[in-house]
Amino acid sequence: MVTEGVAVVVGASGGIGRALCDRLWASGGYDRVVGVSRRRPHGWAYDDLRTWINADILDERSLRSAAEQIAAVGAPTRIVVATGRLSGSGLLPEKNMRSLGAAALSEAFSVNAIGPALVAKHFLPLTPRDQPSVFAALSARVGSIGDNRLGGWYGYRASKAALNMLVHTLAIEHARTRRLGICVALHPGTVDTSLSAPFQAGVQPEKLFTPERSAASLLVVMDRLRPEDTGGFFAWDSAPIPW
Ligand SMILES: NC(=O)c1ccc[n+]([C@@H]2O[C@H](COP(=O)([O-])OP(=O)(O)OC[C@H]3O[C@@H](n4cnc5c(N)ncnc54)[C@H](OP(=O)(O)O)[C@@H]3O)[C@@H](O)[C@H]2O)c1
Repeated sequence: MVTEGVAVVVGASGGIGRALCDRLWASGGYDRVVGVSRRRPHGWAYDDLRTWINADILDERSLRSAAEQIAAVGAPTRIVVATGRLSGSGLLPEKNMRSLGAAALSEAFSVNAIGPALVAKHFLPLTPRDQPSVFAALSARVGSIGDNRLGGWYGYRASKAALNMLVHTLAIEHARTRRLGICVALHPGTVDTSLSAPFQAGVQPEKLFTPERSAASLLVVMDRLRPEDTGGFFAWDSAPIPW
C-alpha cells in the first residue's frame, strides 16, 4: 500500500478526535499518526506508527514545540482540529439574550475559534508544497447563519461562525503557496461524546452517531475533497452547508 505521509489530529483526547486517530491508524494509509492534546488519550498505545504530543491550542509556546516535533516526523498531509467546547465550567449554551455574559462568550471564542486559528498558524506551514493535503477544522452546523432558525446557543453558534470565516480566510492565503492544499470546516454530525451528552434528550437515536461512525465519514469526506473545494463548509456526508 502507498502511504500518504503523516496525519495529525489535534484534540486526540476527545470523543471524535480519538476515533479519528484510531481510524487513521487502522487504515494503514499513513506512515505516522500524531495525536495532539492537553492530556494523554486514554489507553494510547505507543508504537512506531503512533505518536502523542502534549499541547494546548491556546498556548502558542506549546503549539510551536508541537510543530517542531511534527516536522521531525514528516510533512503532514492530513491535519484535523477536533477540539471544541459547548458547555462545562463557566460555559452553558445561552437560551436567551438575558444569559449573555462576557466571560462565557470569550471562552467560547477562545476555544472554538482562536485556538484552531493558532493551530493553523503553526501547523499549516508544515504541509507539503507539491502534494495534496487537507487541513480540516471541526465546526458545527449550528454555526451556519443561513441555517439558524431556532436561535439560542449564542456563544457556540457565533464562535463556530467565526471559525468558519477564519478557515475560509486561511484557505485563500494557503492556496497562494500550496495549490494542492485544502482548508475546510466540517460538521461531524450529532455525535455521542461528552460534548453532546447533556443535550442528547431530543435527538432521534438513528441521528446520533457513534464517534467511530462520524470519524469514518469525515475521513471519506476529506479523501473526496478537490482543490476547488478549499475554503468550504461541508457536512459528514460531503453535503455543502450554507454559511
Ligand atoms: N459531538 C457532537 O455532536 C458535535 C456536533 C457538532 C460539532 N462538534 C464539534 O466536533 C469537535 C469535537 O467534539 P467532540 O464531540 O469530540 O467533543 P469532546 O469529546 O468534548 O472533545 C473535545 C476536545 O477538545 C479539547 N479541548 C478543549 N479545549 C482545549 C484546549 N484549550 N486545548 C486543547 N484541547 C482542548 C478537549 O481536550 P481535553 O480532553 O484536554 O479537555 C478534547 O480533546 C468540536 O469542535 C465540536 O464542537 C461536535
